[in-house]
Amino acid sequence: MWTQWRRKSSKKDEWIIRQGADGDDFYILQRGKANCYLKIGDGDRRVEKHVKTYGPGESFGELALMYNCPRAASIQAVSDVSVWALDRQTFRSVLMQLTAGKRSIYESFLSQVPILSTLDRYERSKIADALVERTCTAGERIIRKGDAGPESDNFYILVEGKVSAFKQLGNEQSVNVRDYGVGDYFGELSLLTSQARAADVTAVTECRLVQLDRHSFERLLGPCQDILKRNAEMYSKIDESIRKSLENISMSN
Ligand code: CMP
Ligand code: CMP
Repeated sequence: MWTQWRRKSSKKDEWIIRQGADGDDFYILQRGKANCYLKIGDGDRRVEKHVKTYGPGESFGELALMYNCPRAASIQAVSDVSVWALDRQTFRSVLMQLTAGKRSIYESFLSQVPILSTLDRYERSKIADALVERTCTAGERIIRKGDAGPESDNFYILVEGKVSAFKQLGNEQSVNVRDYGVGDYFGELSLLTSQARAADVTAVTECRLVQLDRHSFERLLGPCQDILKRNAEMYSKIDESIRKSLENISMSN
């Protein structure tokens, strides 16, 4: 299929895609930057809202080809850019099965995940494209406290089953600090702080997860970062209250 890709260039400010036009090609940006704009409002009130900036390696232009509809947004070159372009027919016969498959499986699940509720449908579909599925057996350790580095750089959302987090608080043995159910997330803290994993996370039952690597987490969950950070502030409060109840128990013994 590699031979079907055509290299194309656009000058700064040139429109690569115009919203409402027919879709011909799917694109991967090779060099430079491009902005995506959505037309919102009607008549005189119509404005083009900047929704995203693409960098090298990122793709766009799949919607019109997948759903046989007009272009849903406009894409403009921010600098001189080079793109790889793939024609509609090849995209539909080769790439679409991959993209559409994961989107249709995960679209409704992701729409019910609370942390993703501020994202629009398109942003969630990009998460569906990037996620990697994983299954775990009961008792399997998913995250090991203290791990650091690229091989442990994943963010997780629980799709099926039960998972718990454990942490050593004071001199005590590891205690259960959190239980997770379907739609909950974990493993965000070390990605937000660039520190080692702060807790062990273990599958309580057989379970199914989806994971995003650090690059996808930063690229696709950018709009959720404030909520993730605010939620993470709760950990020290939870730890403190568990620590206190452990002290009370040991004093009463
Ligand atoms: P397509 O509709 O073929 O052409 C415009 C592209 O803009 C679209 O595919 C998506 O790849 C991309 N895009 C980026 N953000 C959005 C958005 N919020 N809504 C629709 N399309 C978007
Ligand atoms: P991270 O540090 O990347 O890996 C371990 C995860 O356990 C952590 O992110 C959180 O998602 C989760 N966790 C749950 N409870 C706590 C807690 N009390 N303190 C720290 N992390 C916790």
